[in-house]
Amino acid sequence: MQIGLLGYGTVGKAFHALSKEQPALTVKTLLTRRPRGTGCRETDSFADIVNDPNIDLVVELIGGIHPAYEYISAALRAKKHVVTANKAVICAYYPELVQLAQENGVCLRCTAAAGGGIPWLSSLSRVARMDRITAVEGILNGTTNYILSEMTARNAAYGELLAEAQKLGYAEADPTDDVEGYDARRKLVLSANLAFSALLREQDIPCIGISRMTVADIAWARERGLVWKLIARAERRGDAVSAFVCPTLFPASTPESQTNGSANLVSLYAERIGKQSFSGAGAGGWPTASNVLADCLEIADSSRSFYSDRPAAPLPIDNHGEVKTWLFRSYGRYAVRQETAADAFEAYAAVSEIDSGALLAHLPWGML
Ligand SMILES: NC(=O)c1ccc[n+]([C@@H]2O[C@H](COP(=O)([O-])OP(=O)(O)OC[C@H]3O[C@@H](n4cnc5c(N)ncnc54)[C@H](OP(=O)(O)O)[C@@H]3O)[C@@H](O)[C@H]2O)c1
Repeated sequence: MQIGLLGYGTVGKAFHALSKEQPALTVKTLLTRRPRGTGCRETDSFADIVNDPNIDLVVELIGGIHPAYEYISAALRAKKHVVTANKAVICAYYPELVQLAQENGVCLRCTAAAGGGIPWLSSLSRVARMDRITAVEGILNGTTNYILSEMTARNAAYGELLAEAQKLGYAEADPTDDVEGYDARRKLVLSANLAFSALLREQDIPCIGISRMTVADIAWARERGLVWKLIARAERRGDAVSAFVCPTLFPASTPESQTNGSANLVSLYAERIGKQSFSGAGAGGWPTASNVLADCLEIADSSRSFYSDRPAAPLPIDNHGEVKTWLFRSYGRYAVRQETAADAFEAYAAVSEIDSGALLAHLPWGML
């Protein structure tokens, strides 16, 4: 199978190296803005890839929404399979891209887009074919997990650790997507869409990140044997989905609490098989490129599906229903309340108008 590779950064470079070990795959052409000395044909014009009838598969690893969207859609229209690690573009254009792939009889796969090196989306897709998945949840952002783990271990302030994470390359120069939970929310949308054959919109899902977390919050949890994690959760509720992203407290002995650094831990719950959890490297060139490679190999083996061939339908987000336990912090005072997620997020928004440092967290087992 001949590949047109877009991008030669952290993941693109690792993917190119890995592909050389696979007789079934050849990177024929690389789209790059500057010479890379890869030995394959290098071009700065996407037309050289999309118009090449010998290229069967386009691997998009440039990131961002534009021009990635234009390149992916043109490749699908040209009846080329597409593999990408780009959650931003898949999440923003999910229905259009899935439909384009179906109309043109080609595959669109993005296992590396959620969970980096963990075969999470491909496993989810497999389970969705044989069982009814009721919920998906987990630690899906390595940057925030690194910051929270270090805050817990070293009693250091959020700002200090964010600067450190940026220095170490764990956080972007503009960390907003990570620290405000938007990256985790995109991965949640990709996961829930596959799990529930749904078409969710990321902006409908309430989301709280970790940028308001303080040393006092860490100490408050420690005194109670609890550990902070940023959790993205979606649960099927009839013809709707309950979903949110927010800081969550776990007892110190749980697998979530023991998932440290930039690692991810994500679980599915299904009616017959019960709970399955997956953990590992949520980012990094080699792990991420390995998942990209696995998608390419499965396409080469004629495994056609990924986003299952079952029709997906738009589902509303509805966080009314089940009463859960929540921790509110405003002006340094903590209060535990029991209410639906819809009411909790509404109350948090109202409190935030007068206290811009307020915090809301989920207590999943009603602890305390
Ligand atoms: N890194 C990870 O651990 C990780 C994990 C999971 C998913 N991902 C996803 O994988 C994708 C790639 O990430 P990355 O970390 O490899 O990014 P990266 O290191 O920033 O690499 C991006 C590459 O794309 C090139 N590029 C950008 N725009 C281009 C354009 N218009 N035309 C041609 N080349 C262009 C850049 O070229 P220049 O060098 O010329 O700028 C660079 O080589 C992203 O969607 C990311 O979200 C990454």
